[in-house]
Amino acid sequence: PAGLVLWAVIGYLLGSIPFGMLLSKVMGLGDLRSIGSGNIGATNVLRTGNKAAAAGTLILDGGKGAVAVLLARWLAGEDAAQLAGLMAFLGHCYPVWLRFRGGKGVATFLGLVLALSWPVGLMSCATWLAAAALSRISSVGALVAALMSTAWMVMLRDYDLTALTLALTLLIFWRHRSNIARLRDGSESRIGQKG
Ligand code: G3P
Repeated sequence: PAGLVLWAVIGYLLGSIPFGMLLSKVMGLGDLRSIGSGNIGATNVLRTGNKAAAAGTLILDGGKGAVAVLLARWLAGEDAAQLAGLMAFLGHCYPVWLRFRGGKGVATFLGLVLALSWPVGLMSCATWLAAAALSRISSVGALVAALMSTAWMVMLRDYDLTALTLALTLLIFWRHRSNIARLRDGSESRIGQKG
C-alpha cells in the first residue's frame, strides 16, 4: 500500500503539469483563462490561433497520462499503473498549482488509456477524431470518445479496465458541464473558432 500511495502521488504530480498554460505563456499567446472557454486544454489553446501550441498541448497533456501509467507499470506493476493513470487524470482536472481549477481531462484520458491498453486507446482516439471531424465540435468528440471507450473495452474483451474507464467517463461528463449546457442551447463553438 505504501508503494501505491507513492504512485498515486507521482501520477497526480505528473498530471497536474498544466502544459497548455505553460506553452501559451512561453509562446506569448495570452492568458487562456480570458480566451474562448477559459479552459487550459488543447482545444482552447487552438483558439489563440497557434496550431503548433495546440498540437504541443495535446501531445504533452496526453503524454503525461501515458508516462504516469508506463512508469508505474514498469516499476510497480498493473495496479500501480491504473492508479497512476487515474491520479494523472485527477491531477490534470484539479491541479494544486492552479488552486484546483484545471482542465477537462480529455487528452490525458486518451494518453493513459493508450498506455493501459493500446488497442482500446487507438479505437478511442479514432472515435474522438471521427466524432470531432463530423461535428466540428471538440467537446462532442470528447464526450463520444469517453462513452465509447468503455464499449471498446467490452468489445475488445479488456474487462480489467472497465471500472476505470466508466469512472473516467463520468468525470469527463462532469468536467464538460458547461460544454453540455452550450451544446443544448446551440452556442458551443466549432473547432478553431475564437468564441
Ligand atoms: O478537451 C476539452 C474539450 O473537449 C472542450 O474544450 O475549450 O471547448 O471547453 P473547450
